[in-house]
Amino acid sequence: MEEADRASTARMIDFWLGGEDHFPVDVAAARAFEGAYGPCAPLFRELRAFLGRAVRTIAGAGVDGFLVFGAGVPTRGNVHEVAPEAAVLYTDVDPVTIRLGQRILAGNDRAGYGYGDATDVGTVDSALLRRFVPGWGRRPVGVVFLGLAAFLDDATLAHTLDELYAAVAPGSFLAVDFDGEELAAYPEALAMMGPQFRMRPPAAFGSLLGRWTPTDDGIVAVSRWRPDGSPAALPDAFHGGLAIKRSG
Ligand SMILES: C[S@@+](CC[C@H](N)C(=O)[O-])C[C@H]1O[C@@H](n2cnc3c(N)ncnc32)[C@H](O)[C@@H]1O
Repeated sequence: MEEADRASTARMIDFWLGGEDHFPVDVAAARAFEGAYGPCAPLFRELRAFLGRAVRTIAGAGVDGFLVFGAGVPTRGNVHEVAPEAAVLYTDVDPVTIRLGQRILAGNDRAGYGYGDATDVGTVDSALLRRFVPGWGRRPVGVVFLGLAAFLDDATLAHTLDELYAAVAPGSFLAVDFDGEELAAYPEALAMMGPQFRMRPPAAFGSLLGRWTPTDDGIVAVSRWRPDGSPAALPDAFHGGLAIKRSG
């Protein structure tokens, strides 16, 4: 198996989720981050559980095709595992993670993995899009945009979400999350996320969503988005929710 020479936040998340699809460099970065912040596994388990509840909600509305941006590692309760009847195209920009994902999904005829820069949907291979998200642009789909907004500045994020809104059919859903300001109290951990990392206050989320309409659940701490039982007592590190394209 190939090695990675640089850590990836996606593969660090796999480590925190107890997965097996990461490299020593990812484990070293994850442990260094925890040294500066504290335990991360409970936060990422909660974020992945939110993904599950959001994807099941979208599938429950009759949607059977998903396009996932900044997908990371397609395991540990990821989209095709929680919506096994759906077709799913995972995309990312990190070549090592893409090859890892392609290996994990080899032989799966309902889920695939390819390159895709979220800021330009045109970079997604059109043959993969036709194969794994057959209704793209014609019937409602689920766009999964988790763990990604924090790596895009406001103008790029707003433009990206608006382009996706224009590309999908009415009735489509967006599952999205934003990093709150939790890391402001941990400057060493914040510095490890790199200069492009964006924390945002809840008041900023609405205008970034633009024409997408949040469901009545709103954009809230992910542990409080339609919780199964009592929400876990965790810091509000991630805020997320679902938004819908209501009309053309
Ligand atoms: C924090 S990880 C999130 C992974 C996964 N969504 C999850 O929640 O476990 C962020 C991912 O976004 C990817 N990424 C960063 N910029 C991107 C872009 N412009 N388009 C698509 N993916 C991007 C990174 O390579 C990385 O795999």
